Amino acid sequence: MGYAKVFLGVLLVTALAATSTAQTKLKCSKAGATCTALIDYVSPNNTNVTTIQSLFQVENFQNLLGANNFPTSTPSDKDVTAKKKIRIPFTCLCDNGTGVSNHKPVYTVQEGDTLDHIARDVFSGLVTYQQIADVNGLPDPNNITRGQELWIPLPCSCDEVNGAKVVHYGMVVDAGSTVEVIAKQYGTTQATLLRLNNMTDPSKLQAGQVLDIPLPACSSNVNSSSLDYPFLLANGTYVYTAYNCVKCKCDSANNYTLQCEPSGLKSTNSDWTTCPAMQCQGADGLFIGNKTSSGCNQTSCVYSGFTSKSILTSLVTESICPAPSAAWKIGFQGLGWNFFLFISIQLILFLSLHLS
Ligand SMILES: *[C@@H]1O[C@H](CO)[C@@H](O)[C@H](O)[C@H]1NC(C)=O
Ligand SMILES: *[C@@H]1O[C@H](CO)[C@@H](O)[C@H](O)[C@H]1NC(C)=O
Ligand SMILES: *[C@@H]1O[C@H](CO)[C@@H](O)[C@H](O)[C@H]1NC(C)=O
Ligand SMILES: *[C@@H]1O[C@H](CO)[C@@H](O)[C@H](O)[C@H]1NC(C)=O
Ligand SMILES: *[C@@H]1O[C@H](CO)[C@@H](O)[C@H](O)[C@H]1NC(C)=O
Ligand SMILES: *[C@@H]1O[C@H](CO)[C@@H](O)[C@H](O)[C@H]1NC(C)=O
Ligand SMILES: *[C@@H]1O[C@H](CO)[C@@H](O)[C@H](O)[C@H]1NC(C)=O
Ligand SMILES: *[C@@H]1O[C@H](CO)[C@@H](O)[C@H](O)[C@H]1NC(C)=O
Ligand SMILES: *[C@@H]1O[C@H](CO)[C@@H](O)[C@H](O)[C@H]1NC(C)=O
Ligand SMILES: *[C@@H]1O[C@H](CO)[C@@H](O)[C@H](O)[C@H]1NC(C)=O
Repeated sequence: MGYAKVFLGVLLVTALAATSTAQTKLKCSKAGATCTALIDYVSPNNTNVTTIQSLFQVENFQNLLGANNFPTSTPSDKDVTAKKKIRIPFTCLCDNGTGVSNHKPVYTVQEGDTLDHIARDVFSGLVTYQQIADVNGLPDPNNITRGQELWIPLPCSCDEVNGAKVVHYGMVVDAGSTVEVIAKQYGTTQATLLRLNNMTDPSKLQAGQVLDIPLPACSSNVNSSSLDYPFLLANGTYVYTAYNCVKCKCDSANNYTLQCEPSGLKSTNSDWTTCPAMQCQGADGLFIGNKTSSGCNQTSCVYSGFTSKSILTSLVTESICPAPSAAWKIGFQGLGWNFFLFISIQLILFLSLHLS
């Protein structure tokens, strides 16, 4: 009798597993570490940005826009058509060697839900029913009740990649894509993607699979004592931080250096009636985002983080003139054959244009 019951249970679970997509589990080495991560959500139905924000419990609407590089003026009822990818920003937690979203989002079970429906449809296959059962300690995945709250463990990582700070982005693979094409598109290599995703055979890539992509993160001056440390912002995204007082963006145009400025928004910290001063000490009238130059030196007032009391700033001075002596020394030696070839091609082009 007892034996038969156990047997039935095993059958049910294997039946579920057979139709589930492969589970993505990402290595996250530093126990207890947290960081920012991104993942694609592909809504099964036409929906709007606000509905997605509440499904994933993204605290700040602007930061959902920023993760997608949507204009800041995007209205909250902006339609999202079915099957369109939206990038969700969330906090990742390294837990026992694996990265999972830090106890969020929490989904409340509705009438008629099954764990597999929640995993496969509501959260578009970003997790499996088994992963939800595991992290929530459900003894029986076939028995969930309406109103029950479930933590949905989105896959992620906080690990550096090839010695560089990155933002891990769980990209949902499009049909017909290849690891090599994806690697090229995101400025990485096939070998790196295979290693991160614990894959040996690139031909095993499946449409709909969540593939971990390391996006370059901007370098910043954010202090280790800041409440938003480690501040990792992915290339091509923006974020509001310091209780919404500061807006920062990251792009390749600024050589992957964080660019921040006062946001002009109201602070979300109830203790702050207005955003605190964002002036750099020792520099008259220089606020976060301001630059001044004197000769070859450029001094910038940069964002360095925040505490419950203030916003931290620092002055960064760098040379904006090319170092002439070094450049000349490289000269013909350093440029060598490439330079010679370049000149030759120019000469041939010039001659062919003018002699024809
Ligand atoms: C978004 O869609 C939901 C469900 O369709 C709807 O209830 C809600 O009013 C919409 N939100 C906005 C801001 O339009
Ligand atoms: C941590 O992971 C190891 C193997 O990956 C497993 O044996 C162990 O049970 C896990 N511990 C917890 C608390 O989940
Ligand atoms: C999408 O629409 C279908 C049919 O209208 C419905 O059964 C399903 O629950 C919807 N899915 C979500 C995630 O709202
Ligand atoms: C389902 O779980 C609830 C509590 O979570 C328990 O009271 C109930 O007996 C379970 N039902 C079955 C059929 O195991
Ligand atoms: C990587 O894949 C191998 C075989 O496919 C598996 O045994 C191993 O547990 C996987 N490692 C992780 C961290 O998922
Ligand atoms: C970080 O901030 C603290 C307090 O504001 C300061 O004492 C420390 O020097 C700063 N560290 C760096 C590396 O700037
Ligand atoms: C950074 O983003 C820009 C545009 O968003 C893109 O052109 C560039 O290739 C990206 N760089 C890397 C290394 O991914
Ligand atoms: C871009 O940043 C890198 C490392 O931060 C630095 O070595 C390089 O000189 C910078 N390039 C430019 C054009 O500023
Ligand atoms: C400093 O930046 C603010 C906006 O952040 C701008 O309004 C102001 O003109 C800038 N001042 C200087 C001296 O560049
Ligand atoms: C530029 O900075 C260097 C030190 O970083 C200093 O020696 C030099 O005098 C500065 N030049 C100007 C024009 O301010």
